[in-house]
Amino acid sequence: MPEIHVVRKDNRHLYQQYFDPYFRLRHDIYVKQRKWMALDRPDGREIDQFDTEDAVYLFCLDDGQLIGAMRALPTLLPTLMSDIVPYLNIRGPIRRGDVYELSRIFVIPERRGEHAGPRVEMLLLTAIMEYGISIGLTGFTIVLESWWLPRFERCGWKAHPLGLPQMIDGMSVLAVLVDCNDTTWKSLCRQIGLIRPTLTWRGLAGVNRLALPDISTLLPASVQPAR
Ligand code: COA
Repeated sequence: MPEIHVVRKDNRHLYQQYFDPYFRLRHDIYVKQRKWMALDRPDGREIDQFDTEDAVYLFCLDDGQLIGAMRALPTLLPTLMSDIVPYLNIRGPIRRGDVYELSRIFVIPERRGEHAGPRVEMLLLTAIMEYGISIGLTGFTIVLESWWLPRFERCGWKAHPLGLPQMIDGMSVLAVLVDCNDTTWKSLCRQIGLIRPTLTWRGLAGVNRLALPDISTLLPASVQPAR
């Protein structure tokens, strides 16, 4: 099963070899494939002003290969929502210590969809919930295309719209606040059959982490007793 690693400024040196492939993958996926041309850079790496040392990355690694990732930014610092599209939130951008902004979730094309194990994208959605509750977050803001909403609904992510969708570069985009809590995490774990936490915290022994609820007895959704 792929591993999801937490990468932040305190342990970034342990993952240095992954950053060049990571930024190149972002360029391939967002610029070449999705045609988000505003992100184009001549060096073939998609890096923006939010890739600072305060960004937290989840790297999904399989046999040493980066197959997916996600980025989380503290909302007390500049974010996409605060600096690029503040008008998507009718009450103004959220700036709270217990809320991070998520962006740049991707899975490499050959690992998308259903495979032998849980979908990599579901693993990432589960892992970021685990990260959030481990460090005491209560929510995630996201600027997203509206096609995510039914996907979130299906997997149990509770997304509260912060404003109306707007057309941006031909895409219907809105801002949401997603609840980060034990209930959502446990439900995701059950859906993908996880009975233990999934995150790897290499080099992060110094980080204060809250206790996670016990999931060792969770039955997969398919074998839940009928009500
Ligand atoms: N527009 C509309 N719907 C999309 C979509 C897009 N750009 N990308 C995915 N979907 C929806 C579709 O319903 C799709 O079903 P389909 O195959 O019948 O069209 C479904 O999601 C499954 O997507 P798929 O890509 O096959 O697999 P996945 O669920 O494993 O991965 C992502 C989903 C988003 C992680 C993956 O598509 C990806 O990495 N995309 C590129 C990066 C990206 O756009 N990230 C989001 C913005 S940060």
